[in-house]
Amino acid sequence: MKPLPLALDDLPPFRVPLRFFLTAPLFGVLAGIVVIVEGETVFASRWSPALIGATHLLTLGWLAMVMIGALFQVVPVLSGRGIPAAARVAAPVHLALTLGTLGLAYGLVASSPNLVALGLGGLLAAFLLFGGLLAWRVLRPSRGGGALVTIRFAVLALFATVALGAWMAAGIAWPSLGIPYRASTDSHARFGLFGWVLLLVMGVSQQVVPMFHVTPPFPAAIARGCGVTVFGGLILLATSDARLAVVIGASATASASLAWAIALLAVLAKRKRRRTDATVRAWQLACWVLIGTAPIAWQIAVVPDLPISFVARHQQALLLGVLVVLGFCVTVVLGMLQKIVPFLAFTHLQRRALKNPAAIPLLPAMEDFVSTRTATIQIAIHATAIALTIAAAFEPAVARAAGAALCVDFAFCAVNLTRAALRYRRVVASVAERE
Ligand code: HEM
Repeated sequence: MKPLPLALDDLPPFRVPLRFFLTAPLFGVLAGIVVIVEGETVFASRWSPALIGATHLLTLGWLAMVMIGALFQVVPVLSGRGIPAAARVAAPVHLALTLGTLGLAYGLVASSPNLVALGLGGLLAAFLLFGGLLAWRVLRPSRGGGALVTIRFAVLALFATVALGAWMAAGIAWPSLGIPYRASTDSHARFGLFGWVLLLVMGVSQQVVPMFHVTPPFPAAIARGCGVTVFGGLILLATSDARLAVVIGASATASASLAWAIALLAVLAKRKRRRTDATVRAWQLACWVLIGTAPIAWQIAVVPDLPISFVARHQQALLLGVLVVLGFCVTVVLGMLQKIVPFLAFTHLQRRALKNPAAIPLLPAMEDFVSTRTATIQIAIHATAIALTIAAAFEPAVARAAGAALCVDFAFCAVNLTRAALRYRRVVASVAERE
């Protein structure tokens, strides 16, 4: 299925996604600091408050932050029309998501019901405002092909994740309600990671991989089939404990994830732009992590008691969480940011310079915003952070080293994206002088 031609007329100003892109790495640094401060207790169990808090600094503070920023940009390209009032709602959504994530994450780390309640308020404000406008734009019929179909399922999975998250957070914030919140954790985590994140990555990849790396399009069966199969599997797993439903649900989700990862590696191998840049490396790393993870997720859902010699029972879910959140989700987003930020900076400057040819000589190359060398170092640091965090899941004594690596990983990203933003601003000022 061919990617759509870029509809640039409805693109929001660069500051709309940029505020999200610049904030996200700071949450990654905070997650690293939590791991350093809390040390070995973080990886003692999947239920350790510090781990669940750090998980949300990554899943909300990094992933949701970047993905919401990117959706402001991607939706106009895919559906032909932008998210309504994008330039006006971006700031309140950004503020509510930032404060909500800080409140929830620290409320979970410190076991403070009041902070969890405050966090919940901020998060509901952010997701209801943004989710409502997004749903209004993408859930109604429009152009868009397999990519938009898959993104629609991602939006539905986001609603399920937030609804279950809010239910659990209410159980923690107001214990007197007697909500058995732990019974919903697995469904919440699955809808969040294999639904909202994986489906959104699947949808967006159909546009950005052929566009940035000049690859052939994804096979139609993958473009149209993977989204509905993953979502169908997640619905089955969330709504029934019947053995057959669990086996079918887990097999559908795992096999569609595998099929998509293998298809992506295949189209990347046929790319016309042969240079193996950092973003290609990040896609390849994330796909191999997903290929290794999908069978583990299947095993935990279908045969949880299966003895695995080198992984103790309590470590299985922990390892799965580290692989999916850090190994797959964070890697894909980190890789795409290395391309998207220079591309958007260049595109917005180019559109401005085309209105005033005297400004064209001022246009920097995309490489000047984030260089190939910097992006390659970024992915190497990130791979080290993944390896140390996996080691910490087996040996908690490694936790502080893993925390330090996470801090370096996201601080490096914060510095590079800030430098790109400052360069963009300088060029805007010089272009303005020539207008
Ligand atoms: C409104 C937003 C959200 C709220 C209020 C929320 C709330 C919660 C709460 C209270 C827990 C702990 C449950 C327990 O102790 O059993 C939890 C667990 C979890 N959440 Fe969220 N969450 C939200 C969004 C997300 C998103 C967007 C993702 C992923 C993309 C996510 C991923 C997870 C994971 C992986 C766990 C499980 C940790 C484990 O199993 O050890 N959450 N969430």
